[in-house]
Amino acid sequence: MKYPNIDFEPLFTWVNRPRIIYAPGVRRELAYEISELGGSNVAIFTDKGLVNAGVVEMVAEEIRKSDLKLVGIFDAILQDARIANINEGGEFYRSIGADCMVAVGGGSVMDTAKAVNILIGHGADDFQPLAEQAGLWEGAQRLPPHVAFPTTAGTGCEVTNALVVLDTEVGAKLSVTHPYCNSDIAMLDPELTIMVPPKITAFTGMDALTHAIEGVTSTGAEPIADALGLHAIRLIARYLPEAVKDPDNITARGNMLIAATLAGMCFCNTMTGGTHATAHALGALYGIPHGLANSIMLPVVMDFNAVESPERFMIIADAMGIDVNGKTALEAAEAAVQGVRDLKSQIGLTETLRDFNIPDDSNKLMPLVELAAGDGQIGYNPRYLEEADILNLFLKAM
Ligand SMILES: [Fe+2]
Repeated sequence: MKYPNIDFEPLFTWVNRPRIIYAPGVRRELAYEISELGGSNVAIFTDKGLVNAGVVEMVAEEIRKSDLKLVGIFDAILQDARIANINEGGEFYRSIGADCMVAVGGGSVMDTAKAVNILIGHGADDFQPLAEQAGLWEGAQRLPPHVAFPTTAGTGCEVTNALVVLDTEVGAKLSVTHPYCNSDIAMLDPELTIMVPPKITAFTGMDALTHAIEGVTSTGAEPIADALGLHAIRLIARYLPEAVKDPDNITARGNMLIAATLAGMCFCNTMTGGTHATAHALGALYGIPHGLANSIMLPVVMDFNAVESPERFMIIADAMGIDVNGKTALEAAEAAVQGVRDLKSQIGLTETLRDFNIPDDSNKLMPLVELAAGDGQIGYNPRYLEEADILNLFLKAM
């Protein structure tokens, strides 16, 4: 294809901190890596589902076999990082005398672990005032050693310097950033992801795709993030259907883990947009899992945005493997939207907002609209979203 003009704002910064190590079975290097980081008393942060599935033991046994001490496993992490749960985790870390953490889990686990590490590193015991500050950059301190094993290929939380907290009192999701909150080392071990059921594989994969697509189209888009996001899209288009159809396929699982990390590195610099803003509202008010909410909203928001920056959606179509030769930028952008719809039906994601008892009524949708309009990600959407536009997006996703 003839490469389209893809301008970007002339001033940008790009940061990324963690070291990334990939290999099927890379958990066997964990003890060495923690020792190198200076840790000796290890606390694992995870959830009960992963303990029951035997995934935590696959990591824990590597610590037990080593000279390190496994001082405790905090398995009480809930869906969505929550202040009370974070504070409980901080208390646990201190009570067992831990000096480093290993997070084993998906986005909720990794975000909760990040927040706990911020508490420990800053000598605090309540995350509420820190969450309210949203950006924890001034006086930010290096945090104790932290290794993350993502067990879903979706959030990219292992590399992003932000976390999303559900404020249960206000009923909203808040983004909190801290320059050192991401793991020191992201260990990508696809063997830990083969037990993820097809449905969760599908919607976490759609979260990663949303990070990449919103990263490439956000108002903060820039060339380094483009490179990361576009390759993530290529890998997801190629390997997500395989990972859903054949859960034991280590090649597909491995490429999806890499794609989710690439997409995380992309969007933590560019931010996201309207899909994430609306998905955060759906998660906060209706408890819809983040990836599933994104998968419902993504084609609707892309369709709305396509006219604003069709060239950017054209390169997305190309990355998805769609032949854009002979198409205008707008035709190619529409093909990208259709490509996302096709991918969703291929992986069995047919849900609409109706499946979650969300009222098909403009007045009743207003709390959702207002929450999305106030979300920190909305300003990065390439096309300006008025409240009436947001309402239309929800109505179209019914
Ligand atoms: Fe996300």
